[in-house]
Amino acid sequence: MSRSSRREGARLPVLSHMREFFPEDAVVIREITKDALGEDYPLSLFHDIHGAWPEGFIVVKQDDAIIAFIAGILPARRRARILMLAVRDSYRNQGIGTVLTDEFTERCRTRKISSIELEVRKSNAGAIRFYERLGFHIRYLLPRFYTDGEDGYKMWKTLP
Ligand SMILES: CC(C)(COP(=O)(O)OP(=O)(O)OC[C@H]1O[C@@H](n2cnc3c(N)ncnc32)[C@H](O)[C@@H]1OP(=O)(O)O)[C@@H](O)C(=O)NCCC(=O)NCCS
Repeated sequence: MSRSSRREGARLPVLSHMREFFPEDAVVIREITKDALGEDYPLSLFHDIHGAWPEGFIVVKQDDAIIAFIAGILPARRRARILMLAVRDSYRNQGIGTVLTDEFTERCRTRKISSIELEVRKSNAGAIRFYERLGFHIRYLLPRFYTDGEDGYKMWKTLP
């Protein structure tokens, strides 16, 4: 089966399930963020993001442990922005990131959101390709967007 056909109708691996973020998840989410994105954010940030749009903060659990999450906000009435998406290293390339992004996109559609945007490091070729396969496009460069001085790209997807 080709990679692209595998992604169509992607499902979570057996024994995994998705649910909304609970406040007690913040400690683990912080750890995943540190490992996967190299950023050490205060716990309060995750609570604030959840408070801003609870349905836009989704976690994946397997065997009682959180293994992935996506978190987004609504910067305008019909626009959503993915702030973070991360899958624990040992669970990557199984379709989990695709399922999470698809679920986030469905929640946006339900709210009649017309576009989803995000930022990604210029050097993160794997994530850029991942998002492009899900219908996102690079819109423009964000010079020195990250605190360490690296450039980023703004990526965008329009929802029909
Ligand atoms: C980017 C990221 C979220 C992708 O998550 P993931 O769960 O590995 O994503 P998927 O498994 O859905 O897709 C990844 C690849 O696996 C392939 N794949 C999908 N389902 C698969 C399956 N069932 N079996 C094997 N491979 C599969 C896809 O074709 C895809 O290939 P591509 O990346 O070459 O396009 C993950 O790599 C990650 O956490 N990276 C670190 C943090 C990061 O960079 N986040 C994004 C920037 S904010």
